[in-house]
Amino acid sequence: MCGIVGYVGSRECTEVLLNSLSKLEYRGYDSAGIAVFENNVIKTQKSKGKIADLIAKMENEGRLEGHCGIGHTRWATHGEPSDINSHPHGNANVTIVHNGIIENYKKIKEFLERKGYVFESQTDTETAAKLLDYFYEGNPIAAIQRVLDEIEGSYALGIMFKDYPDRIYAVRKDSPLIVAVGDNESFIASDVPAVLQYTKKYYLLEQDEIAVLDKNGVEFYDDHGAPIKKELLTADFDMEAAEKGGFAHFMLKEIHEQPTAVRTTITPRISDGMPNLEECGMTYERLKNYNNIFVVACGTAMHAGLVGKYVIEKIARVPVTVDVASEFRYRDPILTDKDLVILVSQSGETADTLEALRLAKRNGADTLSIVNVKGSSIARDSDMVLYTHAGPEISVASTKAYMVQLSVFYLIAFSIAYAHGKISMEECKRLVAELQNVPNVIEEILKTPDSCQYVASQLVNSENLLYIGRGLDYALSMEGSLKLKEISYIHSESYAAGELKHGTISLVTNGMPVIAVATQRNLFDKTVSNVKEVKARGAYVILVTHKCKTVDSDAADCVISLPTIDDLLMPMTAVVPLQLIAYYTSVLRGNDVDKPRNLAKSVTVE
Ligand code: G6P
Repeated sequence: MCGIVGYVGSRECTEVLLNSLSKLEYRGYDSAGIAVFENNVIKTQKSKGKIADLIAKMENEGRLEGHCGIGHTRWATHGEPSDINSHPHGNANVTIVHNGIIENYKKIKEFLERKGYVFESQTDTETAAKLLDYFYEGNPIAAIQRVLDEIEGSYALGIMFKDYPDRIYAVRKDSPLIVAVGDNESFIASDVPAVLQYTKKYYLLEQDEIAVLDKNGVEFYDDHGAPIKKELLTADFDMEAAEKGGFAHFMLKEIHEQPTAVRTTITPRISDGMPNLEECGMTYERLKNYNNIFVVACGTAMHAGLVGKYVIEKIARVPVTVDVASEFRYRDPILTDKDLVILVSQSGETADTLEALRLAKRNGADTLSIVNVKGSSIARDSDMVLYTHAGPEISVASTKAYMVQLSVFYLIAFSIAYAHGKISMEECKRLVAELQNVPNVIEEILKTPDSCQYVASQLVNSENLLYIGRGLDYALSMEGSLKLKEISYIHSESYAAGELKHGTISLVTNGMPVIAVATQRNLFDKTVSNVKEVKARGAYVILVTHKCKTVDSDAADCVISLPTIDDLLMPMTAVVPLQLIAYYTSVLRGNDVDKPRNLAKSVTVE
């Protein structure tokens, strides 16, 4: 949700801010803006639309010139996307960019209006900017502290004070922010990729810490205003990882990165052919102690959890409950110290997942997070963390993050099953070897995207679509359906194949596409019966199954055949054609694949 950047140094600031913002557009892209000290005066330029629209505006009005400034790309929460609601907000004295939500903004606004302040925008951010102005008496840190005492909610703020034209101030709570340093220059950003073209050295700003940046470096203060020292970190990926590298879109590049991402994620966690999760303290002994497992996540990460549930329950026979984080938090879940709560998140910053983690900890459960972004809030706050090593995922529609989350769930499932004596060491090693082979199979599938391109050409004019499957295939259908609707804007639903006839089949009309996933051989015939039911009602059926399966010519209009591996692991390979179908359909419809409308990659609001 929203990307923020800031720069102070000797480079032309507008250029740096625009470059950095363009790397953060995945966080929000309905408006953008910058504020720059020009001859010691704070000047802003902002525009509804993408960064390209802001650049077009600058071409007409001229670029702001200076060496210190802040910038923002917005995902609207309070107030529609418009020039006025775009950040930065403030006045000639204090100007800010903000990521997050000021929950008590109405109360603050009323207070400030009584003091004579006039508001232009509908945003919560403007209240924080004006409150800073109200408290400011010449000492920026003191003013920031006063504001932090008053505001409730989540925030990452980049701040400029008129009296300090060579400094940026930054603070955060529950919204991510990094502070980076180069040679005689300093940066703030919502995420590391935003600054990678300038430096790999960065600090993670912790809750309510205040950073003061100038071109000579950064000083940090705790929430009482006392100076603190922080550890300087080095990014372990470079610019290339955050670039398209010859692919038309980040999504396609990330789909192709999946085999490598899986290898990098699982290899360090396999020793002597057995899964080994001890790096995070997850010993076989510890795994034996859990009565229940809860998986809590949002969106695609939650879908990875659904596959995890099937696999863990099937081979380890431990009950697993999967919850959407925003539901888990409010349903008063029954948790004990004999339970394990697994939080899954690519960004590690999703607000509901983070709060679910805190709830689980308050209730005494053990917490394990599966997270992609190093040092993110969820990773740091959980008892144990297993990082996925997918590298930066830029496309809003998640692909490689899902894939590596699945691979970690398999390692967890094998470990629990072995710890409980449900599978022998021999069987465990066989499953691990199958998992190690999955990246090769994905590479194979990626060599022939033609059938997926053909399916996309059949779907492109559809308004409605169904995905059906049973068991693991049903879990996978949910992800296939989400992928398609996110980026193609075609309405689609996933349904348990056997449940279709209890209502949803009434939606099937002549020519309606139905994508049936049937990779679980014990359920194949049952799913094919359901396929025939929709076929008999005129559906256009695309069947995704094993190469080894013979499909009656009257059962499907199009068959996508996949190399045969153990059924248990099929979600990892069968998801690839579903991702490609969504991708090519979105391309054919002329959509902005990597930045689908209304969506943001990192959802730091509840
Ligand atoms: C957003 C993204 C999804 C993602 C979900 C959870 O909705 O658009 O792609 O699956 O958030 O994000 P997380 O970072 O917690 O995995």
